[in-house]
Amino acid sequence: MGLQWGDEGKGKVVDVLTPAYKIIARFQGGPNAGHSLVFGEDHFVLHTVPSGIFREGTVNVIGNGVVIDPVILLEEIESIEKMVGDISGKLVISKRAHLILPTHRMLDAASEAAKGKSKIGSTLKGIGPTYMDKTGRNGLRVGDILSPEFADKYNALKKKHFGLLSQYDFNFDITEYEKKWMTAVESLKRFPFIDSEVYVNEAICSGTPILAEGAQGSLLDIDFGTYPFVTSSNTLTAGVCTGLGVAPTRVGKVFGIFKAYCTRVGSGPFPTELFDEDGETLRRIGHEYGATTGRPRRTGWLDMVALKYAVMMNGVTDLIMMKSDVLDDFDTIKVAEAYKENGADVENFPYDGGVNVTPIYKEFPGWKAPLSGIRRFEDFPQAFKDYVAFIESETACRISIISVGPDREATVVR
Ligand code: GDP
Ligand code: IMO
Ligand code: MG
Repeated sequence: MGLQWGDEGKGKVVDVLTPAYKIIARFQGGPNAGHSLVFGEDHFVLHTVPSGIFREGTVNVIGNGVVIDPVILLEEIESIEKMVGDISGKLVISKRAHLILPTHRMLDAASEAAKGKSKIGSTLKGIGPTYMDKTGRNGLRVGDILSPEFADKYNALKKKHFGLLSQYDFNFDITEYEKKWMTAVESLKRFPFIDSEVYVNEAICSGTPILAEGAQGSLLDIDFGTYPFVTSSNTLTAGVCTGLGVAPTRVGKVFGIFKAYCTRVGSGPFPTELFDEDGETLRRIGHEYGATTGRPRRTGWLDMVALKYAVMMNGVTDLIMMKSDVLDDFDTIKVAEAYKENGADVENFPYDGGVNVTPIYKEFPGWKAPLSGIRRFEDFPQAFKDYVAFIESETACRISIISVGPDREATVVR
């Protein structure tokens, strides 16, 4: 689970943890996600396919809660197969997952353009309109692809979308994309379309370990994030239950992933955002540019008020801290311990995401030493260990993995 605004390093963590699991499953979001994996010289960004795909002996499930753009999924599959060969035995897709139509993307773009300055900063992949059709009970699902009425259903929904699009002052032409979309839909038929909730529950009953891979982050959750500057799915642990069909009583460990600082891409409140040289340094050293859109990410100090809220909402059992190495050269590292608003203390992460709060910072001396070569916790500098201890004490949760570089190998497991 990502505990911030996404891009915490979930892809890397899933790839690192996968050897202990047989099934890796995505349960929400769609191609708005960009999960980076780095092994040696190879780099990969996954959008819809779970990050267990590069490990031998795994089955990767695209669960019912995910929304799928067949064009993007097919492109992704083709580039994975260029690297590792046929993956048709390693990828299954829920019949209940909803399809992103070309017109959903148009609606996303038209809606964002119409919002002007108050735009969400969407990745424009059609996520919001697709989830709207899902909850509005108009959506098209993967299982429909095999129905003889698929073309009729597609055309009916497209017609409805054209009606909506006519209300916007927006030029669009979907002809080319629609052709690619139809071809991609055909190509996806070589993968099993399954009742993934049954598959997953049978696996749980037989003791098969399953790893669910979150997309986005807790502060982008549709209910508990910085609404309306959020995505359109439940990005919290609760989303695993609805997005895979797993009962809450079946959820085991919850790995909460966070960066040693904060980033956000797109609009919306960000209490600890930096607009100075420190912010620029974080962006430069951390290569903070979106994996899906290439947009520069906004940067800021670690925010304990928001992190504690995310730990609580996810029921985190293990924390995983990423990108610790990015802070190597700072003389002073700041962490927001609390917020004030109009001079008064703010107890919890606020309803509006903290638009008007002033963070109260605690300062830590930097460790001023490279962490990226370290593989054992004992070998970390004391100043870094103090930073870790502070976060653990504030969250009442153990940091069990520390990442010190993008590569699989640059990982310290305690
Ligand atoms: P995700 O969406 O949560 O999977 O994260 P992204 O892949 O969008 O962004 C994380 C970025 O940080 C990627 O470029 C990773 O390769 C990189 N990364 C992950 N862990 C570390 C780390 O510990 N140190 C550094 N320097 N980079 C990391
Ligand atoms: P991963 O899984 C970071 C952000 C967008 C925008 C808002 C809504 O890589 O962590 P949407 O396209 O969902 O309508 O956009 O959410 N957003 C992400 N930010 N990482 C992501 O995914 C994101 N997916 C969506 O930038 O602010
Ligand atoms: Mg990402």
